[in-house]
Amino acid sequence: MALVVVSCALPGDALSLLRSEHEVVVVETTGESPNRLLPAIPEANGLVSMLTDRVTKELIDAAPELVVIGNCAVGYDNVDIEAAQGRGITVVNTPNVLTDATADFAWALMLAAARRVTEGDRFVRAGRFHGWELGLLLGREVSNTTLGILGLGRIGRAVATRARGFGMNILYSQRHRAAAEVEAETGARHVPLDALLGESDFVSVHVPLTSTTRHLLDERALRSMKPSSVLVNTSRGAVIDEASLAKALREGWIAAAGLDVFEREPEIHPEFLDLDNVVLAPHVASATEATRARMARCVAEDVLRVLRGERPEQRVV
Ligand code: GLV
Ligand code: GLV
Repeated sequence: MALVVVSCALPGDALSLLRSEHEVVVVETTGESPNRLLPAIPEANGLVSMLTDRVTKELIDAAPELVVIGNCAVGYDNVDIEAAQGRGITVVNTPNVLTDATADFAWALMLAAARRVTEGDRFVRAGRFHGWELGLLLGREVSNTTLGILGLGRIGRAVATRARGFGMNILYSQRHRAAAEVEAETGARHVPLDALLGESDFVSVHVPLTSTTRHLLDERALRSMKPSSVLVNTSRGAVIDEASLAKALREGWIAAAGLDVFEREPEIHPEFLDLDNVVLAPHVASATEATRARMARCVAEDVLRVLRGERPEQRVV
Protein backbone atom coordinates (compact mmCIF):
# COMPACT_ATOMS: atom_id res chain seq x y z
CA MET A 1 0.00 0.00 0.00
CA ALA A 2 1.30 3.40 -0.95
CA LEU A 3 0.56 6.84 0.46
CA VAL A 4 -1.26 9.34 -1.76
CA VAL A 5 -1.43 12.98 -0.66
CA VAL A 6 -4.38 14.84 -2.16
CA SER A 7 -4.53 18.64 -1.94
CA CYS A 8 -8.33 18.98 -1.95
CA ALA A 9 -11.33 16.76 -1.15
CA LEU A 10 -12.02 15.37 -4.62
CA PRO A 11 -15.63 15.18 -5.83
CA GLY A 12 -17.50 12.07 -6.93
CA ASP A 13 -15.99 8.66 -6.29
CA ALA A 14 -12.35 9.67 -6.90
CA LEU A 15 -11.27 9.62 -3.26
CA SER A 16 -12.87 6.25 -2.54
CA LEU A 17 -11.26 4.89 -5.68
CA LEU A 18 -7.83 5.96 -4.39
CA ARG A 19 -8.67 4.63 -0.90
CA SER A 20 -9.61 1.22 -2.32
CA GLU A 21 -5.92 0.62 -3.07
CA HIS A 22 -3.90 3.04 -0.93
CA GLU A 23 -3.73 5.16 2.16
CA VAL A 24 -4.96 8.65 1.32
CA VAL A 25 -4.24 11.86 3.20
CA VAL A 26 -6.20 14.95 2.23
CA VAL A 27 -4.35 18.20 2.96
CA GLU A 28 -6.56 21.12 2.02
CA THR A 29 -4.03 23.59 0.64
CA THR A 30 -6.44 26.19 -0.71
CA GLY A 31 -3.54 27.19 -2.92
CA GLU A 32 -1.16 27.63 0.03
CA SER A 33 1.41 25.27 -1.34
CA PRO A 34 4.12 24.12 -1.18
CA ASN A 35 4.05 25.14 2.51
CA ARG A 36 0.92 23.23 3.53
CA LEU A 37 2.03 20.12 1.65
CA LEU A 38 5.56 20.04 3.05
CA PRO A 39 4.76 18.20 6.32
CA ALA A 40 2.87 15.39 4.54
CA ILE A 41 5.06 15.02 1.46
CA PRO A 42 8.20 13.20 2.76
CA GLU A 43 6.39 9.83 2.87
CA ALA A 44 4.17 10.36 -0.18
CA ASN A 45 4.33 8.01 -3.17
CA GLY A 46 1.65 9.89 -5.05
CA LEU A 47 0.47 13.51 -5.08
CA VAL A 48 -2.82 14.76 -6.49
CA SER A 49 -2.46 18.52 -6.97
CA MET A 50 -4.77 21.32 -8.09
CA LEU A 51 -3.72 24.10 -10.48
CA THR A 52 -3.49 26.44 -7.48
CA ASP A 53 -0.74 24.27 -5.95
CA ARG A 54 2.75 25.29 -6.85
CA VAL A 55 4.51 21.96 -7.21
CA THR A 56 8.01 23.39 -7.01
CA LYS A 57 11.43 21.77 -7.14
CA GLU A 58 11.60 22.41 -3.38
CA LEU A 59 8.43 20.36 -2.83
CA ILE A 60 9.58 17.60 -5.16
CA ASP A 61 12.99 17.49 -3.44
CA ALA A 62 11.21 17.06 -0.11
CA ALA A 63 9.43 13.94 -1.45
CA PRO A 64 12.05 11.22 -1.96
CA GLU A 65 9.40 8.47 -2.33
CA LEU A 66 7.28 10.31 -4.92
CA VAL A 67 6.65 8.43 -8.18
CA VAL A 68 3.56 10.17 -9.57
CA ILE A 69 2.04 13.65 -9.62
CA GLY A 70 -1.55 13.82 -10.84
CA ASN A 71 -2.48 17.41 -11.65
CA CYS A 72 -6.27 17.77 -11.63
CA ALA A 73 -6.33 20.18 -14.60
CA VAL A 74 -5.43 20.19 -18.25
CA GLY A 75 -2.86 22.96 -17.69
CA TYR A 76 0.27 22.02 -15.76
CA ASP A 77 2.27 25.24 -15.70
CA ASN A 78 2.02 25.02 -11.88
CA VAL A 79 4.23 21.91 -11.84
CA ASP A 80 8.00 22.08 -12.22
CA ILE A 81 8.03 19.50 -15.02
CA GLU A 82 11.80 19.58 -15.36
CA ALA A 83 12.32 18.81 -11.68
CA ALA A 84 9.80 15.94 -11.87
CA GLN A 85 11.40 14.58 -15.01
CA GLY A 86 14.87 14.83 -13.46
CA ARG A 87 13.67 12.55 -10.68
CA GLY A 88 11.86 10.16 -13.04
CA ILE A 89 8.49 11.11 -11.54
CA THR A 90 5.51 10.56 -13.85
CA VAL A 91 3.21 13.57 -14.26
CA VAL A 92 -0.37 13.12 -15.50
CA ASN A 93 -3.13 15.67 -16.21
CA THR A 94 -6.82 15.69 -17.21
CA PRO A 95 -7.30 16.66 -20.86
CA ASN A 96 -10.31 15.50 -22.96
CA VAL A 97 -12.81 15.29 -20.08
CA LEU A 98 -13.05 19.09 -19.78
CA THR A 99 -12.87 20.05 -23.46
CA ASP A 100 -16.58 20.62 -24.08
CA ALA A 101 -17.26 22.40 -20.77
CA THR A 102 -14.33 24.76 -21.35
CA ALA A 103 -15.29 25.46 -24.97
CA ASP A 104 -18.87 26.13 -23.85
CA PHE A 105 -17.59 28.65 -21.33
CA ALA A 106 -15.36 30.41 -23.86
CA TRP A 107 -18.56 30.84 -25.85
CA ALA A 108 -20.43 32.08 -22.79
CA LEU A 109 -17.76 34.78 -22.37
CA MET A 110 -17.76 35.66 -26.06
CA LEU A 111 -21.52 36.10 -26.13
CA ALA A 112 -21.65 37.87 -22.77
CA ALA A 113 -18.90 40.34 -23.70
CA ALA A 114 -20.26 40.99 -27.20
CA ARG A 115 -23.88 41.36 -26.13
CA ARG A 116 -23.16 43.10 -22.82
CA VAL A 117 -25.00 40.47 -20.77
CA THR A 118 -23.40 41.16 -17.38
CA GLU A 119 -23.58 44.91 -17.93
CA GLY A 120 -27.30 44.53 -18.68
CA ASP A 121 -27.76 42.45 -15.54
CA ARG A 122 -26.12 45.17 -13.43
CA PHE A 123 -28.28 47.78 -15.21
CA VAL A 124 -31.52 45.94 -14.38
CA ARG A 125 -30.54 45.27 -10.75
CA ALA A 126 -29.66 48.94 -10.29
CA GLY A 127 -33.28 49.81 -11.18
CA ARG A 128 -32.24 51.61 -14.35
CA PHE A 129 -34.46 49.72 -16.82
CA HIS A 130 -37.34 52.08 -17.61
CA GLY A 131 -38.59 50.40 -20.77
CA TRP A 132 -37.46 49.23 -24.19
CA GLU A 133 -35.28 51.66 -26.09
CA LEU A 134 -34.03 51.41 -29.66
CA GLY A 135 -30.54 52.43 -28.63
CA LEU A 136 -30.23 50.63 -25.29
CA LEU A 137 -27.05 48.64 -24.57
CA LEU A 138 -26.13 48.04 -28.18
CA GLY A 139 -23.52 45.34 -28.53
CA ARG A 140 -21.52 43.56 -31.20
CA GLU A 141 -22.79 41.12 -33.81
CA VAL A 142 -21.56 37.58 -33.29
CA SER A 143 -23.07 35.63 -36.17
CA ASN A 144 -21.29 35.83 -39.52
CA THR A 145 -18.20 37.57 -38.15
CA THR A 146 -14.58 36.34 -37.97
CA LEU A 147 -13.27 34.31 -35.04
CA GLY A 148 -9.53 34.00 -34.43
CA ILE A 149 -8.45 31.04 -32.32
CA LEU A 150 -5.03 31.12 -30.67
CA GLY A 151 -4.05 27.49 -30.31
CA LEU A 152 -6.09 24.90 -32.22
CA GLY A 153 -5.68 22.12 -29.65
CA ARG A 154 -8.58 20.12 -28.24
CA ILE A 155 -10.35 23.11 -26.69
CA GLY A 156 -9.57 25.45 -29.59
CA ARG A 157 -11.06 22.89 -31.99
CA ALA A 158 -14.20 22.54 -29.86
CA VAL A 159 -14.60 26.34 -29.89
CA ALA A 160 -14.21 26.31 -33.68
CA THR A 161 -16.80 23.55 -34.11
CA ARG A 162 -19.33 25.65 -32.22
CA ALA A 163 -18.43 28.73 -34.31
CA ARG A 164 -19.60 26.96 -37.45
CA GLY A 165 -23.14 27.10 -36.06
CA PHE A 166 -22.75 30.88 -35.86
CA GLY A 167 -21.72 31.04 -39.51
CA MET A 168 -18.32 32.43 -38.58
CA ASN A 169 -15.22 32.68 -40.68
CA ILE A 170 -12.59 30.89 -38.55
CA LEU A 171 -8.87 31.68 -38.43
CA TYR A 172 -6.29 30.06 -36.20
CA SER A 173 -2.73 30.70 -35.27
CA GLN A 174 -0.15 28.42 -33.71
CA ARG A 175 3.49 27.56 -34.35
CA HIS A 176 2.81 24.45 -36.39
CA ARG A 177 -0.02 24.13 -38.87
CA ALA A 178 -2.68 21.62 -37.79
CA ALA A 179 -3.28 18.39 -39.70
CA ALA A 180 -5.39 18.69 -42.87
CA GLU A 181 -8.21 16.62 -41.24
CA VAL A 182 -8.36 19.07 -38.32
CA GLU A 183 -8.56 22.04 -40.69
CA ALA A 184 -11.27 20.30 -42.71
CA GLU A 185 -13.28 19.31 -39.63
CA THR A 186 -13.18 22.77 -38.04
CA GLY A 187 -13.13 24.90 -41.18
CA ALA A 188 -10.31 26.92 -39.57
CA ARG A 189 -7.67 28.59 -41.73
CA HIS A 190 -4.05 28.89 -40.54
CA VAL A 191 -2.71 32.46 -40.55
CA PRO A 192 0.22 34.24 -38.85
CA LEU A 193 -0.57 35.79 -35.46
CA ASP A 194 -0.43 39.35 -36.80
CA ALA A 195 -2.98 38.56 -39.51
CA LEU A 196 -5.26 36.83 -37.00
CA LEU A 197 -5.16 39.81 -34.64
CA GLY A 198 -5.74 42.31 -37.44
CA GLU A 199 -8.65 40.46 -39.06
CA SER A 200 -10.61 38.87 -36.21
CA ASP A 201 -13.76 40.27 -34.62
CA PHE A 202 -13.33 37.78 -31.77
CA VAL A 203 -10.05 36.37 -30.48
CA SER A 204 -10.19 33.37 -28.14
CA VAL A 205 -7.04 32.17 -26.36
CA HIS A 206 -6.40 28.42 -26.05
CA VAL A 207 -2.62 28.06 -25.79
CA PRO A 208 -0.97 26.63 -22.69
CA LEU A 209 1.19 28.97 -20.58
CA THR A 210 4.87 28.37 -21.36
CA SER A 211 7.93 30.59 -21.50
CA THR A 212 7.10 31.31 -25.18
CA THR A 213 3.41 32.13 -24.66
CA ARG A 214 3.86 34.32 -21.57
CA HIS A 215 2.65 37.81 -22.58
CA LEU A 216 2.11 36.60 -26.15
CA LEU A 217 -0.61 39.25 -26.24
CA ASP A 218 1.40 42.27 -25.18
CA GLU A 219 0.79 45.95 -25.84
CA ARG A 220 1.93 45.69 -29.47
CA ALA A 221 -0.35 42.71 -30.14
CA LEU A 222 -3.35 44.35 -28.47
CA ARG A 223 -2.81 47.54 -30.45
CA SER A 224 -2.94 45.53 -33.68
CA MET A 225 -6.46 44.24 -32.94
CA LYS A 226 -9.59 45.85 -34.37
CA PRO A 227 -11.11 48.56 -32.13
CA SER A 228 -14.41 46.68 -32.49
CA SER A 229 -12.97 43.32 -31.44
CA VAL A 230 -13.62 41.16 -28.38
CA LEU A 231 -10.88 39.17 -26.62
CA VAL A 232 -11.67 36.06 -24.57
CA ASN A 233 -9.28 34.12 -22.36
CA THR A 234 -10.04 30.74 -20.78
CA SER A 235 -6.44 29.42 -20.79
CA ARG A 236 -4.01 31.15 -18.42
CA GLY A 237 -3.98 34.80 -17.42
CA ALA A 238 -0.29 35.40 -18.06
CA VAL A 239 -0.67 34.71 -21.80
CA ILE A 240 -1.99 38.30 -21.86
CA ASP A 241 -0.13 41.28 -20.43
CA GLU A 242 -2.88 42.39 -18.06
CA ALA A 243 -1.67 45.94 -17.53
CA SER A 244 -1.75 46.49 -21.31
CA LEU A 245 -5.17 44.83 -21.59
CA ALA A 246 -6.59 47.17 -18.95
CA LYS A 247 -5.22 50.09 -20.99
CA ALA A 248 -6.63 48.61 -24.21
CA LEU A 249 -10.11 48.31 -22.70
CA ARG A 250 -10.00 51.76 -21.14
CA GLU A 251 -8.66 53.52 -24.23
CA GLY A 252 -10.73 51.55 -26.77
CA TRP A 253 -7.98 49.74 -28.68
CA ILE A 254 -10.42 46.82 -28.42
CA ALA A 255 -14.15 46.86 -27.61
CA ALA A 256 -14.50 44.29 -24.85
CA ALA A 257 -13.04 41.24 -23.15
CA GLY A 258 -14.22 38.14 -21.32
CA LEU A 259 -11.73 36.75 -18.82
CA ASP A 260 -11.88 33.54 -16.81
CA VAL A 261 -8.19 33.59 -15.87
CA PHE A 262 -5.83 36.22 -14.49
CA GLU A 263 -2.12 36.81 -14.17
CA ARG A 264 -1.97 36.70 -10.37
CA GLU A 265 -5.04 34.74 -9.27
CA PRO A 266 -6.97 35.38 -7.15
CA GLU A 267 -5.87 39.00 -7.57
CA ILE A 268 -7.82 40.94 -10.17
CA HIS A 269 -6.16 43.90 -11.87
CA PRO A 270 -7.90 46.80 -10.06
CA GLU A 271 -8.68 48.63 -13.31
CA PHE A 272 -10.82 45.71 -14.56
CA LEU A 273 -13.18 46.22 -11.64
CA ASP A 274 -13.99 49.74 -12.82
CA LEU A 275 -14.51 48.85 -16.48
CA ASP A 276 -17.92 47.93 -17.88
CA ASN A 277 -16.53 46.35 -21.05
CA VAL A 278 -14.91 43.36 -19.39
CA VAL A 279 -16.75 40.26 -18.18
CA LEU A 280 -14.94 38.73 -15.21
CA ALA A 281 -15.26 35.09 -14.16
CA PRO A 282 -13.49 33.31 -11.28
CA HIS A 283 -11.63 30.59 -13.24
CA VAL A 284 -14.68 28.38 -13.73
CA ALA A 285 -14.55 27.29 -17.38
CA SER A 286 -14.49 23.58 -16.50
CA ALA A 287 -16.79 24.02 -13.51
CA THR A 288 -19.75 21.74 -14.08
CA GLU A 289 -20.52 18.95 -11.64
CA ALA A 290 -20.10 16.27 -14.26
CA THR A 291 -16.84 17.66 -15.66
CA ARG A 292 -15.20 18.18 -12.27
CA ALA A 293 -16.18 14.63 -11.23
CA ARG A 294 -14.68 13.30 -14.48
CA MET A 295 -11.46 15.28 -13.93
CA ALA A 296 -11.10 13.88 -10.41
CA ARG A 297 -11.79 10.34 -11.58
CA CYS A 298 -9.41 10.68 -14.53
CA VAL A 299 -6.55 11.81 -12.29
CA ALA A 300 -7.29 9.17 -9.62
CA GLU A 301 -7.36 6.36 -12.18
CA ASP A 302 -4.06 7.44 -13.71
CA VAL A 303 -2.36 7.79 -10.31
CA LEU A 304 -3.55 4.25 -9.50
CA ARG A 305 -2.21 2.98 -12.82
CA VAL A 306 1.25 4.45 -12.18
CA LEU A 307 1.34 3.09 -8.62
CA ARG A 308 0.44 -0.37 -10.00
CA GLY A 309 3.30 -0.09 -12.47
CA GLU A 310 0.91 0.29 -15.43
CA ARG A 311 0.99 2.90 -18.18
CA PRO A 312 -1.11 6.00 -17.43
CA GLU A 313 -3.52 7.28 -20.08
CA GLN A 314 -2.69 10.99 -19.80
CA ARG A 315 1.01 11.24 -19.33
CA VAL A 316 2.70 14.65 -19.49
CA VAL A 317 6.18 13.26 -18.73
C1 GLV B 1 -8.08 24.74 -15.82
O1 GLV B 1 -7.70 25.86 -15.90
C2 GLV B 1 -7.33 23.60 -16.26
O2 GLV B 1 -6.17 23.76 -16.67
O3 GLV B 1 -7.88 22.49 -16.20
C1 GLV C 1 -37.23 42.85 -29.41
O1 GLV C 1 -37.61 42.44 -28.33
C2 GLV C 1 -38.06 42.95 -30.58
O2 GLV C 1 -39.20 42.46 -30.52
O3 GLV C 1 -37.57 43.53 -31.55
